[in-house]
Parts: sequence; structure tokens; C-alpha cells
Amino acid sequence: MTLTFKRTDLPEGFLFGTATAAYQIEGSSFGSCGPSHWDTFAATPGNTAHGQNGAIACGSYQRWEEDLDLLQQGNFDAYRFSTNWSRVLPEGRGAVNAAGLDYYDRLVDGLLERGLKPLCTLYHWDLPAALSDLGGWRNRDVANWFADFAELVTRRLGDRLWGTVAINEPWCVSYLSHFLGVHSPGLRDIRATARAMHHVLLAHGTALERMRAMGQKNLGIALNLTATEPADDSPEARAAASLQDAIYNRWFLGGLFKGAYPQEALDGLGPHMPAHWHDDMSTIAQPLDFLGVNYYTRTLIAPGEGLWPAVRQVEGPLPKTEMGWEIYPEGLTRLLTWMHRNYTGDTPIHITENGMAAPDTPRNGAIQDTARIAYIDAHIAAARAALAEGVPLKGYFIWSLIDNFEWALGFDKRFGLVRVDFDTLERTPKASYQVIASALARS
Ligand code: FCB
Repeated sequence: MTLTFKRTDLPEGFLFGTATAAYQIEGSSFGSCGPSHWDTFAATPGNTAHGQNGAIACGSYQRWEEDLDLLQQGNFDAYRFSTNWSRVLPEGRGAVNAAGLDYYDRLVDGLLERGLKPLCTLYHWDLPAALSDLGGWRNRDVANWFADFAELVTRRLGDRLWGTVAINEPWCVSYLSHFLGVHSPGLRDIRATARAMHHVLLAHGTALERMRAMGQKNLGIALNLTATEPADDSPEARAAASLQDAIYNRWFLGGLFKGAYPQEALDGLGPHMPAHWHDDMSTIAQPLDFLGVNYYTRTLIAPGEGLWPAVRQVEGPLPKTEMGWEIYPEGLTRLLTWMHRNYTGDTPIHITENGMAAPDTPRNGAIQDTARIAYIDAHIAAARAALAEGVPLKGYFIWSLIDNFEWALGFDKRFGLVRVDFDTLERTPKASYQVIASALARS
């Protein structure tokens, strides 16, 4: 199994990279990192598969050079990594953990030495536990706490970063974590949700303002957008899918690009919003230098029962990944072209995550992850179709470089191009890594 594209099939300068996140790979028990709300969430019975956590993860705190060598040998152009807020500021504010900032400093230099562009995500979910005690994303002060952290990291790394993603997946930070209770802090509370959904965008906007004032360039955000479709042709299913799309996709696109939230979502969340939220919309909607899109699948939506939002996800008929997610590359083309026409216009787009989980069992020492190769190939083709329709797509980052801690699902779900043996932390490139390295080679 090989790939059907080559580097030269994409526009000149198109970036290929991989993505990871601090809590999922580094090991939060190393280097005087403070406790984050993921450490405490994972320490609570029933929240993560097998009670697993990111205390050791892939040990990248020690093995980062090996990881960067893999990127270089894979012929990638860029690496999207994240800074653990709790590693830099163990209490969330105040005293800095010098070892934490030094670690990211070495990582950025290591990338540059290998000819790789550093794309830094400031927040990939490791909220310091001390700030969680104060209400975390429910507390409006989080906007300034986060902007202070952004300023601190930018002061240290900013001169060498290629770009900055302020926040990863605000829907997950807010709705998944405060309404569905799946991620930390595991709440199921509509008032907490409305506040988190607004504050996460306010934090993004406040941080961007601060970084811009420092002269920092190439600032963006990564949204997890999902193609959302009605389960059947009935008006009820169409209305349900539209509401889901409003909560999941249009809340964030609308806030960022139009300074307005969709009315359908406000019908439920409006009464629970913080006072004077309208006044924040210009901060939220300030210009983005790029938009990151994390794309994996679609959701099929049917009407549900009971309280707002009364929507129900139904299982689709398409082949699925190990996550149970349907493989639906055409959704990527559709989403990008729709978004480009209705929201993002000329704003450059990067696919900041795309990839799949598979069992990836080694046979005679080799991992033939043909399904992953086919998945990546089909999604690159879908990205090229969007380019042909005029979407200013500039890069594609595979989730993920290495197998890692997949949040509530623990270590069972393997997304890496490189296998990690979680007993020895040994890294073994899979077939997907090899074919991508060949496709990306500059001859
Ligand atoms: C995204 C997350 C990333 C990883 C992938 C599979 O939602 O940003 O950390 O868990 O999904």
C-alpha cells in the first residue's frame, strides 16, 4: 500500500507536519510540572480507561530529541506541539517553573536545528488545577490568566516560533467537558457550559491582542469541525442536525468570523450566558492570521427527546476507525469549501489535525497500518479537491507523530505514525511513516 500523491502535487510551500499535545506525550510527573485538571480528572475512578493518565505518557520530556529526529527523517516541514500550562506555571499564575520554560526552549531550538517549523499550541487542555479550583473556564478571569501565560511563553519562545495556535478545540474545552462531562472537569451543567463556551473564545481573543501588541505574527486557533448531517430527509432530522451544527461548528466560526453566535444555540444557552457577553464580541472576532481545522469524521444527527438540545447521534453505515468514527473524506472538502464561502474568506487555513486510530498490532516486528495509509491518502485527496475549489489551504498536520494518551480512552487508541510500546517507551515507525517519508522526500 502506498500513497497516490507526492509533495509536488501540492502548491509550492504547502506544509506537511505532524501534531502532538503536551499532556498526551511528555509525562506530567517529570520536570516539576504542576498538577493540571487532567491529572485530577484521571485520578478519579471511572473517568479514564483503566484509570490511565498522562503521568508518564510517551516520556517525551526525556525523549524529545528522538521524537524530533523522527520528524526530520520523515521529511516533514513542521511540528505542532503544545506547551503544558501547568509545566510553565505550576499554580497557573505567579511563580514560573524555569525547567518547564527551558524544556520548550530546547524543543524549539531542536526543531530549528533540524530545519522544522515550530507551530506552538499554547493550550491543549492542561489547565492548572489551582485555576480549576477557582472555576477554571467558568470564571471570566480565565481570559486574563490565559493571556498572561500566552505573553510569558511568547516572550521566551516567540522570536523562533513559526506560528501560534492559542487554543485547541474550544468545543472540547467547553461543551464536551462541561455539558457532556466526557473530558475534564467532567461537568454536566448548562450554566457552566454557556460560560465556558464564551470564556474560551474570550481567552483566545485576549491572548491574541496581547501577543499582537508584542509584535508576534502568525496567530491562530484550532477548531474541531465535524461534518454534521441529518440522519434522514425529514424536516425534524434536518432541524436537529442544524442545531447540532450551530452548537458544534457555527458557534465558534460565528464568534470568530462574524462576532455573533447562532440564534439556534442561543435559544438554549442564552439564559445561562455571563452578563454583558455582547461587549466581548469584538475582542473575540479580531482578525486571525490563520485558522486551524481539526477534521476526523462526520456525525449523523436525529431528533432526540427531552430537554434542549434534544438531538441524538446515530450510528452511520460507513467503515469506521477504532474510535468508531466513520471514514468520510468528502466531508472535509465540503466543510472547507462551505467555511471558506460563508466565514473564512481569504484567511489561510491549515488542517491542524487529521488521522485515525487502529489496533496496529506488530507482526514480526513490523506494523502494516494499511488502513491509516488509505485514510491519509483519501484525506489529502479531499484537501486537494478543496484547493481546486479555491480554498486557501496552506498545510496539513497528521495526528499524530507517535501513539499517545488518548484522554478518556487511555492508551488503547493508537493514532501514531510511530508505535510506542508503553512498557518500554520504545518507538517503532509504522508502514504509514515510511510511505509518508517517501512521498515527502525532496529529490
Ligand atoms: C482531538 C484532540 C487530540 C486527539 C485527537 C484524536 O480532538 O485535539 O488531542 O485526542 O482528537
